[in-house]
Amino acid sequence: MELKVYSDKHEVAEQFSAYLVDKLGTGKTFHVALSGGSTPKIVFDVLAENFSDKVDWSKVHFYWGDERCVPPTDDESNYKMTVGHLFSKIEVPKENIHRVLGEKDPETGAMRYANLLEINLDRVEDVPQFDLVILGMGDDGHTASIFPHQIDLWNAEDHCVVATHPESGQKRVSINGKVINSAKEVAFLVTGASKAEKVKAVVEKTEGSEVYPATLVDPKSGNLVWFLDKDAAADLNPSPS
Ligand code: 6PG
Repeated sequence: MELKVYSDKHEVAEQFSAYLVDKLGTGKTFHVALSGGSTPKIVFDVLAENFSDKVDWSKVHFYWGDERCVPPTDDESNYKMTVGHLFSKIEVPKENIHRVLGEKDPETGAMRYANLLEINLDRVEDVPQFDLVILGMGDDGHTASIFPHQIDLWNAEDHCVVATHPESGQKRVSINGKVINSAKEVAFLVTGASKAEKVKAVVEKTEGSEVYPATLVDPKSGNLVWFLDKDAAADLNPSPS
């Protein structure tokens, strides 16, 4: 596990974007699972602003680690957010964008997406393998859309599951823990003081932290990188300077 701590979410976004672009530069096809949330939104803005003509986007295939079960035109849609902040500003072939069909009924959407991953991605021990999975972490320690109250979904047999947001009841499609931990690399993007307590619990695996799905992120590749701002890293021992 590698921790990278920066001054604020903008620096996190700039540094992560440079890190990602460096990985995309190999010229090989790259399959990445995106996350929703506020930090990825800034990353997409930075990628669009600073790197749009520095990447051969035709080699990059975009997926989502989780998606809300809403139409692609809905403001809640992670796909819609990514179109607005990234896809509308770069030359990416539309066939490289593999969205979850949020407008379908959740079970159908999840099954279809699992099949799509199984077809599009290499499989390791029968589990689809992403080159990179980008994750956020909620204040409650959820990641992707695996929430603490449904932590059993982490070990679901199906590679994509239907989750329910604990407050809103909103249905979501999420990749399961096996797919996350099969990735060649996993990058957490976590910023803001409200995350500090859970970042400490998850990173230091303090007592009782096993109830937080983010604690279960442990890629077999060993490649797990946290991109944090100072506020989110504030409770770590020793608190990174
Ligand atoms: C989503 C995300 C979700 C997000 C966390 C953190 O669809 O909402 O995938 O898991 O990463 O809720 O969100 P913030 O980065 O906005 O705090």
